[in-house]
Amino acid sequence: MTTFRIRGARILGGDPTDLLVRDGVVAAVGADADAPGAESVDADGLVALPGLVDLHTHLREPGREDAETVLTGSRAAALGGYTAVCAMANTDPVADTAGVVEQVWRLGREAGLVDVQPIGAVTVGLGGERLAELGAMADSAASVRVFSDDGHCVFDPRLMRRALEYVKAFDGVIAQHAEEPRLTVGAQMHEGVVSARLGLTGWPAVAEESIIARDALLAGHVGARLHICHVSTRGSVDIIRWAKARGVRITAEVTPHHLLLTDTRAESFDPVFKVNPPLRTAEDVEALREALVEGIVDIVATDHAPHTTEDKECEWAYARPGMLGLETALSIVQDVALDRLGWDGIAERMSRTPARIAGLTDHGRDPAPGVPANLTLVDPAARRQVDPGSLASRSRNTPYAGMTLPGRIVATFLRGEATVLDGKVVK
Ligand code: DOR
Repeated sequence: MTTFRIRGARILGGDPTDLLVRDGVVAAVGADADAPGAESVDADGLVALPGLVDLHTHLREPGREDAETVLTGSRAAALGGYTAVCAMANTDPVADTAGVVEQVWRLGREAGLVDVQPIGAVTVGLGGERLAELGAMADSAASVRVFSDDGHCVFDPRLMRRALEYVKAFDGVIAQHAEEPRLTVGAQMHEGVVSARLGLTGWPAVAEESIIARDALLAGHVGARLHICHVSTRGSVDIIRWAKARGVRITAEVTPHHLLLTDTRAESFDPVFKVNPPLRTAEDVEALREALVEGIVDIVATDHAPHTTEDKECEWAYARPGMLGLETALSIVQDVALDRLGWDGIAERMSRTPARIAGLTDHGRDPAPGVPANLTLVDPAARRQVDPGSLASRSRNTPYAGMTLPGRIVATFLRGEATVLDGKVVK
């Protein structure tokens, strides 16, 4: 294993210091961070953060390897500063058995660039009718703790209650895609003045908010952990605030795209802006930023959703919803929230808290002696133009093409091994 001496890094934006990374851990910080033969990494001006953790990634393998594989998604993640990603269950076959989650987990280990932690489906085939084998997935080699039908809502309240009761036994969590399906039949974009003008069927905020309210009550009743995926409306924030104040064990995520983009993007009819839940109004974006700063929305998760050109470069109505996110997430958060969160606040929302929700104890720990060396070095002063052609993801559906974003990941380390150096994947 290579020993690294990282010189002059600003841990969480603090004063420059040296770090010694040896045998998988941060061996020393400060003046004694040196060892004979250590490879020197110049971190002048760079901020060291605990490796980022994404609670919501679509890796598409098995089944849609033409859009992404565990390997290509792992490369994208490492380049984005991530050391762990939670792989969503809506693969083909669905990750609803111990066999499939173990397959994804093994593929992640083989790729060796980030820890790939599979999420198990809540219901068989994401069908919303029968509970999947949650216990067998929890007991499998993948030790699944997060379960989600993401892409679909667990809309039957009886089934949702049973799922919450089941995972409570091993302190698991149900991550809900909050969408009352009977309110979003045929929906193409956010329901509001823009959808009315464009003549597209709307996806009303109440379809999200009504499920969050229902599930917050259910989680409170059961005493189990509930996580809300991709919160997108101001009303959802109000409900989550209310639930937290009542002591419900609820956490929530917001995506980078919901922190930056609004429904007016649909005016272009460019399906790269089609996503589920849809881009909302400027008022919603502002409320989500506030909620992230306040801590009502706990974390940023990418909902990295790769799609092939066939599935994206077609008429809006036929395009699949979803956007790439892993390689741009930190830049977007730096852009919209660094001034109010600071690097420590960003580490909390993109590393420590997602690691805690997912139960990934080796991740989300600030660089300090003895801690597993899962960390990333970011150059906050860099600016880069997003070029879809140069992304590591197998897909090209980034909504930020051509935009100039702040920040660049210079290096990422997974258990002391460099996965990214000089902004490039090491293997
Ligand atoms: O836009 C989305 N794409 N939202 C989801 O919930 C699922 C995801 C996907 O799998 O493509």
